[in-house]
Amino acid sequence: MTTNRPVRVAVIGAGPAGIYAADILSKTDVEVSIDLFERLPAPFGLVRYGVAPDHPRIKQIINALHKVLDRGDIRLISNVNVGTDVSVADLQEHYDAVIFTTGAIEDAALNIPGIDLAGSYGAADFVSWYDAHPDYPQTWPLDAQQVAVIGAGNVALDIARILAKHADDLLTTEIPEHVYQALKSSPVTDVHVFARRGPAQAKFSPLELRELGHVPDVDIVVYPEDFEFDEGSMAAIQGSNQVKQVVKTLTDWTLVDPATQSASRRLHLHFLAAPAELVDTDGDGRVDAFRTERTTLNGDGTVSGTGKFTDWPVQAVYRAVGYFGSPVADVPFDPERGVIRNVAGRVVDESGAPVSGLYASGWIKRGPVGLIGSTKSDASETIANLVADVESLPTAPKGSPDDIVELLESREIPYLKWDDWLQLDAFERSLGEAQGRERIKVTTRDEMINAARAVKA
Ligand SMILES: Cc1cc2nc3c(=O)[nH]c(=O)nc-3n(C[C@H](O)[C@H](O)[C@H](O)COP(=O)(O)OP(=O)(O)OC[C@H]3O[C@@H](n4cnc5c(N)ncnc54)[C@H](O)[C@@H]3O)c2cc1C
Ligand SMILES: NC(=O)c1ccc[n+]([C@@H]2O[C@H](COP(=O)([O-])OP(=O)(O)OC[C@H]3O[C@@H](n4cnc5c(N)ncnc54)[C@H](OP(=O)(O)O)[C@@H]3O)[C@@H](O)[C@H]2O)c1
Repeated sequence: MTTNRPVRVAVIGAGPAGIYAADILSKTDVEVSIDLFERLPAPFGLVRYGVAPDHPRIKQIINALHKVLDRGDIRLISNVNVGTDVSVADLQEHYDAVIFTTGAIEDAALNIPGIDLAGSYGAADFVSWYDAHPDYPQTWPLDAQQVAVIGAGNVALDIARILAKHADDLLTTEIPEHVYQALKSSPVTDVHVFARRGPAQAKFSPLELRELGHVPDVDIVVYPEDFEFDEGSMAAIQGSNQVKQVVKTLTDWTLVDPATQSASRRLHLHFLAAPAELVDTDGDGRVDAFRTERTTLNGDGTVSGTGKFTDWPVQAVYRAVGYFGSPVADVPFDPERGVIRNVAGRVVDESGAPVSGLYASGWIKRGPVGLIGSTKSDASETIANLVADVESLPTAPKGSPDDIVELLESREIPYLKWDDWLQLDAFERSLGEAQGRERIKVTTRDEMINAARAVKA
């Protein structure tokens, strides 16, 4: 760098990864001036638009993230999509370094026959609907009595729990009215979760799994013949307290006498059942069965197909087989892994050479796995590398914080600031207060922008 002004840094994406990165950077010895860009009118990423509404304790992480942005030393510029509203070349004119923390919002693909039938859904789309993401439709077809959920991660549990729960048990949460109404009229009776491997390979968190056992009027059904443990499973159980707890919870459920179960809805957990096909038996273009292939453990925790297939009568299939990151225009992207190409947070090109001044953190850096807390350790690594590089960063020609605002205004981009979010936040809380709930989300972009910009008292 060849200037005495503070280092100008843009962080792209105001989810936990972006906010932690900005916070950690602001506390280093480097004199910095940080702008945090967000494409939505609201910050907090998947904490707001991914974490399930019936997990209010996790949603509270927003309070800690809020405090960071409320300090005033990190400038939030939201409702700006980097890659379309402003290009990376624009940013390089105004910032010495750019950190991408754009996360993941799409479903990973599952290429099996029938996946495009009506009644086949991606978990990420369903989550965006029930968490009222403003870029997703406000309606969702909940017309199935029997539903399959593919995958054995925490997202699969979220999907299965929200589908199986009675809507009235969600009323104290921040679920939007249209979601409550749709869930209330759902005719669902049976939700089947299918794991392609065994109980010791499930990626459920112990707490999230145990929670299923406490959902009112929903019985948990497991199948003793699915409880196969190979050497790899035994090693996994012995090597991890989490796996041990998950297996214990599942095994305890095998001991429940079905005669004692009388709930009106059931949540079935199947293991060693790999997805094979979504079946349309009557040719009407809609799924009416889900075909699985029985698998068997190979000894090391992996599985092989046995050639034995089962058709489960269902009218909807949700795939919860992982999320997938999206590229940002002109930033090196690995289409196989769905991440920005990087080495320890330094963006690299296809040949592996570092791209000076570009960094990545969070899910877009290492893929869509890990809890919110894991984005903090990510940020520490990325910021340590940025700080180590600081002397060699390119110097942005337009280094005044006002210049970027002028650019946005010249392009008539309706950007929002932290004060605008405070106003929208207060509005949502006031809507919630009227109904004895913490908040009721505003659900469309236009309404969000209007509430954020309503004349301040
Ligand atoms: C359904 C679901 C439930 C989860 N529940 C939990 C839980 O209960 N507990 C837990 O610990 N973890 C949970 N997680 C994991 C947690 O959400 C992630 O670890 C975390 O959100 C990843 O943070 P991130 O900042 O990398 O990405 P994100 O949270 O996705 O944030 C990325 C941000 O970047 C913005 N952005 C994207 N592209 C652009 C662009 N071009 N320009 C400007 N802004 C952009 C996005 O709008 C978003 O705000 C859950 C994940 C999912 C999918
Ligand atoms: N409450 C919470 O704490 C919470 C809630 C939601 C999400 N999260 C976190 O967010 C992250 C993402 O969660 P996630 O559930 O999307 O991902 P995940 O934990 O990686 O689980 C994905 C699941 O999909 C399965 N799968 C992948 N490809 C498949 C295929 N082709 N066929 C069949 N099954 C397939 C995987 O099975 P294999 O193991 O066999 O590959 C795995 O069971 C995780 O770290 C999770 O813990 C946390």
